[in-house]
Amino acid sequence: MQKGGVGKSTTTINIAGALSDRGHDVLVVDADPQGGATLKMGLRDEYRSSEHALFDILSDMGQLTYDDLDQLIVETDEFDIIPSHLKNFNLEKYLYSEAGGHEALRKAVDRLDTEYDLILIDSPPNLGPLSDGALIASENVLFPSHPNTIARDSLEILFDEIETIETKFDQYDIKTMGAVLNEVPSQGNVAREVEDWFFETFGEDYVFKVPERDVVEHAIEFRTSIFQYDPDEAGYPWDEDAQKDVMASYNRIANYLEEFL
Ligand SMILES: Nc1ncnc2c1ncn2[C@@H]1O[C@H](COP(=O)(O)OP(=O)(O)OP(=O)(O)O)[C@@H](O)[C@H]1O
Ligand SMILES: [Mg+2]
Repeated sequence: MQKGGVGKSTTTINIAGALSDRGHDVLVVDADPQGGATLKMGLRDEYRSSEHALFDILSDMGQLTYDDLDQLIVETDEFDIIPSHLKNFNLEKYLYSEAGGHEALRKAVDRLDTEYDLILIDSPPNLGPLSDGALIASENVLFPSHPNTIARDSLEILFDEIETIETKFDQYDIKTMGAVLNEVPSQGNVAREVEDWFFETFGEDYVFKVPERDVVEHAIEFRTSIFQYDPDEAGYPWDEDAQKDVMASYNRIANYLEEFL
């Protein structure tokens, strides 16, 4: 999803948290040079000063090759993550001009030695070679969006991009798995017209709502998903209902993703 600030990174972390809570081995790949998921998980040092990064794997300007992706894996209490890095900003330009640049991430992920039940890729908020690379690597898209009509335009642009990729690389079939309507206001409901449009576009069973709740932000400040969030340690007043509500939302998504395992 190329739109900024709709909750891509937060959704990625919390789905990973849900799947890990359910006993699955999960890898999060942070393909966004801005490092949303990486910084949210507290990996600031890795982001700023790790010796190696995706840049070294996906470009031929570093010492690493596609086979070395395992070396970037960082373990957290919940799931593994391939963190982003400041130098990945240079990747956009590089992959754009390089033949095969769009397929680089897929090649590297395919050669991972470590086995995972599921790999989630957090995309940057643009349509460049890294988000194209994420689409090609996964061939499955979950579309996070705020519950408003602006999403229609974003989605049309994304569908055009997917069509362009599929025309250029006809061996890939990129499927839309569903939409996550993020930050649904806790009091108000989603406007009927907006909800209907999402239902028609994705199918009613594939539109997942996540409420807007402070506890989501608090968990992120605590550097965990909502599933490992400990309000006592974090020092926030505990809104137990809100936490349960949000966990139920992410569990519904996790439950759906388990169908693919
Ligand atoms: N369900 C929610 N309830 C409350 N706050 C939320 C919720 N989801 C996301 N947020 C907050 O919204 C902000 C944007 O979320 P996030 O960084 O995940 O978006 P993004 O799409 O990854 O942004 P970018 O396009 O910059 O990568 C963050 O501060 C996050 O904590
Ligand atoms: Mg993000």
